[in-house]
Amino acid sequence: MNNRQLFLQHVAQTSDAPLALEIVKAEGMYMWDVNNKKYLDLIAGISVCNMGHCHPAVVKAVQDQVQQYMHLLVYGEFVQSPQVAYATLLTKHLPETLNCVYFTNSGAEAVEGAMKLAKRFTGRTEIASFNRSYHGSTQGALSILGDEYWRNAYRPLLPGIRRLTYNDFESLNEITTDTAAVIAESVQAEGGVNAPQREWLHALRNRCTETGALLILDEIQCGFGRNGSLWAFQQFDIVPDILLLGKALGGGMPMGAFIANKEIMWSLTNSPVLGHITTFGGHPVNCAAGLAAFEALLESNLISVVKEKETLFLQHLKHPVIKAVRSVGLMIAVEFENFETNKKVIDYCISKGVLTDWFLFAAECMRIVPPLIITPEEIKWACSIICEAAEFHAKG
Ligand SMILES: Cc1ncc(COP(=O)(O)O)c(C=O)c1O
Repeated sequence: MNNRQLFLQHVAQTSDAPLALEIVKAEGMYMWDVNNKKYLDLIAGISVCNMGHCHPAVVKAVQDQVQQYMHLLVYGEFVQSPQVAYATLLTKHLPETLNCVYFTNSGAEAVEGAMKLAKRFTGRTEIASFNRSYHGSTQGALSILGDEYWRNAYRPLLPGIRRLTYNDFESLNEITTDTAAVIAESVQAEGGVNAPQREWLHALRNRCTETGALLILDEIQCGFGRNGSLWAFQQFDIVPDILLLGKALGGGMPMGAFIANKEIMWSLTNSPVLGHITTFGGHPVNCAAGLAAFEALLESNLISVVKEKETLFLQHLKHPVIKAVRSVGLMIAVEFENFETNKKVIDYCISKGVLTDWFLFAAECMRIVPPLIITPEEIKWACSIICEAAEFHAKG
């Protein structure tokens, strides 16, 4: 059997139609497959590789760290310098109330940790979340997922979940003094790129403050510059009580984090002690990689040119088959009539060496969330291929 057959045989599958490209090398904006075919990456491993694949500073940080030490002990016991340095730098670039970082293995685990923390800190049991939101695939994260089709098969889910409507003012009345936390994506990603209205987000912040519910903002997909500011919430002038990070946090290594005020985070240390525990969370190699990627992002001018690049995409994504384009920075949804059209366009793009896919709750929308390092020439070329694909589809 060849590698592809072995993959299908022995590696657990999550769909009956995986892309199954066999990639042998990735660097910057590009990947190469086993036949040396080159792909321009428009999805960055789903919002992960913001600094491009195998950024030299990240590779060096990983190499240096594995020569020092890898796993030492479970999370929270030893002083591990990559963890300390990364938490310190992250909090330096966050509002002063977000001053304490809990590193996890994934985004979903950060969501789980934050829900537990909110329950512990408030002594309340209800969690509110929004329609069309995605927060991960574990039982707790699934319980707050905003789409019945995707969660229904896993019942019973967590009790005490209230489902609210994103951008709907009336829904906010359902947040009460029984609510431990409200969790929202700062910009909804898997819903097909839905931005919050500024006034609504302020109303949400105010309602949480009034009722004593903690506001958890999930920036696992939209953080780290993707929306044109380091953190998406900065554009709306509000501060969450708990911030969730993941994906680009690890610079290509698996990581998540929930970040809160030290006073809130302290709840996990007592009655019972060890309120959230993990063997590998905050792994030193992952922290070293994430730190190097974050430093490289801060030293670059990439965030300041996100809006220009977004505009360039919008200017060049024009074709009668494209119904709409929604974007917040370099998080772009290109909407087609239906999934079938989208899939045909995507398949054509991939055949021409442009890697893209669709959104979980918006299967009619093509995903464009490229590494932030994409150049204007690459943007124009990618758009020309997408329009060529749309034209190919239009001609049947
Ligand atoms: C907004 C958001 N939250 C949480 C998650 C879950 O992260 P992970 O897949 O690392 O568990 C994702 C993953 O796509 C996400 O997009």
